[in-house]
Amino acid sequence: MEYKGRLTYAKGTYVEFVVAPNQQVDFGDILVVEGKNGDHFYVRAYDFKVKSRWSGVSNVGYLMSKLDESGQVTNQEELDFYLGGNHTVKIGMAEQLCYADGHGTLFNPKTCPDFFCEVRGLSANDTELLSEIKGDLELGFLKSGRDILELPVGIYGSKAITEHIGIFGTTGSGKSNLVKVLAGSVIDNASYGLLIFDVHNEYYRDLAKHPHIGERLKVYNTNPKADYASRLIIDYSAVGPDDITACATFSEPQLDALYKLSAVWQENWMRDVLAYDTADIIDDLNASTGQKFQQRTISKIKSVCWNLKQELNIGDDAVSTVSDMVTDLEHGKVVLIELKDISPLAEQALSTLLSQRLLQAYANKIKEERLTAKPVLIVLEEAHRFLGKKEHANNNVFAKLVSEARKFNLGLCVVDQQPRLLADKVLSQLNTLFILGLASKADRNKLEAMCRKDILQQRNEIKNLDCGEMIVATNYMRFAAPVKVHKFEDFIGRSC
Ligand SMILES: Nc1ncnc2c1ncn2[C@@H]1O[C@H](COP(=O)(O)OP(=O)(O)O)[C@@H](O)[C@H]1O
Ligand SMILES: [Mg+2]
Repeated sequence: MEYKGRLTYAKGTYVEFVVAPNQQVDFGDILVVEGKNGDHFYVRAYDFKVKSRWSGVSNVGYLMSKLDESGQVTNQEELDFYLGGNHTVKIGMAEQLCYADGHGTLFNPKTCPDFFCEVRGLSANDTELLSEIKGDLELGFLKSGRDILELPVGIYGSKAITEHIGIFGTTGSGKSNLVKVLAGSVIDNASYGLLIFDVHNEYYRDLAKHPHIGERLKVYNTNPKADYASRLIIDYSAVGPDDITACATFSEPQLDALYKLSAVWQENWMRDVLAYDTADIIDDLNASTGQKFQQRTISKIKSVCWNLKQELNIGDDAVSTVSDMVTDLEHGKVVLIELKDISPLAEQALSTLLSQRLLQAYANKIKEERLTAKPVLIVLEEAHRFLGKKEHANNNVFAKLVSEARKFNLGLCVVDQQPRLLADKVLSQLNTLFILGLASKADRNKLEAMCRKDILQQRNEIKNLDCGEMIVATNYMRFAAPVKVHKFEDFIGRSC
């Protein structure tokens, strides 16, 4: 335990301490004030001031007279004599984060420490604090100022997953690496399912290095080129009209026709749309609804359906990726859906369709089934494409997931480089935030405005985050923690 100094002032949750000679304390350091009864006060240093008995104007003038006319030191020894000893002190200013009583129970601040109590660095013995921030899905090590402490930080999946997660950072800040580390921890833990929509097909190559992927990772690709991935196949009955509307813009009459078609033909409406001539479809709809749709309207629907059928292997197959995927996730596996080689429209339809089916499967569970099915986190990259202000208003499946998923044991992990593009309603529902480096002030301001107050206190730190560094803020933790995320390769190297 590193001795750092002594407490010199306390008021409410604010404390000041004198930094011991030769000790280093940085902005953002988390320190411990030893109380008198075996209790501890955890504080975070956020500012400093230097005080000296020489600080007064006349004293500064006297010191200046020891310098030559250009302000240079002429006699270092003499100056050291004046400045040395206890004449000059560095005062750290800190805010109390939480309090541990003599029995090791953690509380929000209860009281303030006494004068001249010892201040020291965090150590592995500070178990009451460390167990709260450790979680069961490890992500990195606690950072304290410029040091990385070998104290693991993570999240408790059972608390965080269904309360939704946001991962925000500029390109190159380490978002993908963080998702890989999260996936690695989910694989190790085996108590949660993780569904990752892999927009760049970037995850398998690294995840493959994990020792347990054989039984715990499943990869799907619509057109697999290597045998690690299974072919993604979808049966007609799994496709609903919402999946089609998610991927293209339709006019009012087109939307009307689409929903009528699915209402009239039910489960296999898409197969029939593709099988029948436009004229026959118009007649059939006319017979059952009395509406006469235009040829253009039906052709557009047919064309979108045809494209999707080709790209997403939609057909009459008995095996369907959808039910396999749901089963894998229920059993706590990581499922990767590789999307790089399909068109943006098909990608949106597929992400919507799979998420919709997963939501349905979980919503339809009876109570007993719900106890055994693992909580599932859906990772959605470039999330503003689905949850931007306009998209959210359409109440698509991701908007539904944000507002309803929690009661079904599902959660959304929103990954984005520009959080300001997300709908406010989405941001306000994210109860765990992983904030990586954000270059744009507008994005940082948005997060500060939408999120909890403790992020504001760390505004300076957030501004200066390097690649792979983040601030973790989650609703069950008493304070936001600065973290150096593990580099994926090093992390799995350590655990096996
Ligand atoms: N925690 C980390 N420790 C060390 N290097 C990292 C870390 N996170 C990311 N990197 C490196 O930074 C680069 C960009 O990371 P990446 O995760 O792809 O960023 P993003 O997805 O935000 O664009 C990668 O080369 C990666 O190896
Ligand atoms: Mg990335």
